[in-house]
Amino acid sequence: MTTIIGLCGSLRHGSFNQMLLRAAVERAPAGTAINPESIRQIPLYDADVEEAQGMPRVVERLKDQIADADGLLIVTPEYNASMPGVLKNAIDWLSRPPADIPRVFRGKPVAFMGATPGLGGTALSQAAWLPVVRLLGMRPWFEGSVLIFDAGRVFNSSGQVADVATEQRIRKFVEGFAVFAGAQQRQYATK
Ligand code: FNR
Repeated sequence: MTTIIGLCGSLRHGSFNQMLLRAAVERAPAGTAINPESIRQIPLYDADVEEAQGMPRVVERLKDQIADADGLLIVTPEYNASMPGVLKNAIDWLSRPPADIPRVFRGKPVAFMGATPGLGGTALSQAAWLPVVRLLGMRPWFEGSVLIFDAGRVFNSSGQVADVATEQRIRKFVEGFAVFAGAQQRQYATK
């Protein structure tokens, strides 16, 4: 079984990006599970808190889940032409302490999707994540893209993908990333 952790960078009830993550979860191919995990309980990063109290339990748990998974699917809104602060904050906590970065992130397949009511389809946000995943030593998958613009038209009032071409694109994307993550898993298993 290939296991992928899904993180969404919107806490909003009615979030288009949560709808997109759900669409990805529902389209995971046989033999792959996309497990959505919430960042809602992750506090604001504060080095004083880290020093005095150590890692919050919610962060430690998510670190272990990512470390055990074969891939990470990041579903990112775009705020002010970049990534949303809540999701960057979560990744910042997850990257602490630096000695744990190899266990949690290094070599880990990662892919990005995003949705916006705007015209840019979260292209700037997805690009803004690249230096982050590079620093963490992750393996980004670039062979597909899901950049949903005009999200109010793409998703219906039940949160389902209402546009056939977008539905096919999401399915193809998820299938492609699952193969990539699964292949990395086999590569590591043979070492
Ligand atoms: C936005 N939004 C936005 N959209 C975009 O395409 N490019 C941008 O630069 C921004 N900037 C931005 C800044 C801030 C502070 C907010 C709150 C919003 C709009 C954004 O795409 C929209 O609110 C989405 O609906 C957010 O994603 P969710 O919550 O629907 O998943």
